[in-house]
Amino acid sequence: MLKYFVAVASVCLAGFIVPRQWRDTCGDALSALLAAVASGSPVRVLSVDELSRYVGATDSPGLYLAVLGQVFDVSAGRRHYGPGGGYHFFAGKDASRAFVTGDFTEDGLTDDVSDLAPGQIVALYDWLAFYQKDYTPVGRVVGRFYGPSGAPADALREVEVTLKEGQRLRAREQAQSRHYPECNSEWSSAGGRVWCSTKSGNVVRSWAGVPRMLFTPGSSSRCVCVNLEDAEHSDSPRLQEYEGCPRQAASCPLGTS
Ligand code: HEM
Repeated sequence: MLKYFVAVASVCLAGFIVPRQWRDTCGDALSALLAAVASGSPVRVLSVDELSRYVGATDSPGLYLAVLGQVFDVSAGRRHYGPGGGYHFFAGKDASRAFVTGDFTEDGLTDDVSDLAPGQIVALYDWLAFYQKDYTPVGRVVGRFYGPSGAPADALREVEVTLKEGQRLRAREQAQSRHYPECNSEWSSAGGRVWCSTKSGNVVRSWAGVPRMLFTPGSSSRCVCVNLEDAEHSDSPRLQEYEGCPRQAASCPLGTS
């Protein structure tokens, strides 16, 4: 390890007279090495071919899968990922995309997440956190997300930018759901109704509010509870009263159509 460190460091120091791109690559390689040194063990780097042998079959060296280039030993979940398991298609590969699309076809089982929406990237990182918590990390697979030295590649940095955007949007949605908790609803053959209570939308609060339709660009309207004492929110142009429902009513009937 020390020899490798010295080699990388020497090449990188020499790199101050070479193009910036080289220096960035050296920086990444050095940070991967420093992280390995700090954790006391070198980062294991697997090729895609090597990873593909870890499918849990009798002649396999083990049972692995990868998410965003991070490889995990999932032997403890053999009943899911081993041969005959419902999620065997994840074994021996990085099929990050399928974790959020649910497309388990050959085309869908890919690590290309470049066109996923910010919310999907957040969901993918939730899966990554799940594997980090429940399974044993093995190393990194060389390819889309990590280079040959195990250092992050550009595609990973791009995903991280999208992740930040997704986290920002999620925080905004969470803040919004506190301002506008969802209504309770029920349906029967005679029609339905929406109503508010101090726990509706799983937001426990001191006020119940009144049902309003909330219009959000790009999606259909939904019923939210609005606190009429909060002028800032109750007067929003994005909110509409239910037809035939008194302004102060905590419950509104819905038509059968
Ligand atoms: C995007 C779609 C889905 C993905 C990516 C997905 C993925 C997974 C994965 C990876 C596991 C294993 C977790 C572990 O290691 O413990 C799992 C377990 C499970 N999934 Fe899914 N799943 C999806 C949709 C569904 C749906 C729609 C259902 C039910 C209708 C479902 C039912 C289950 C059940 C019951 C288990 C636990 C099985 C057991 O404990 O034996 N999943 N899922």
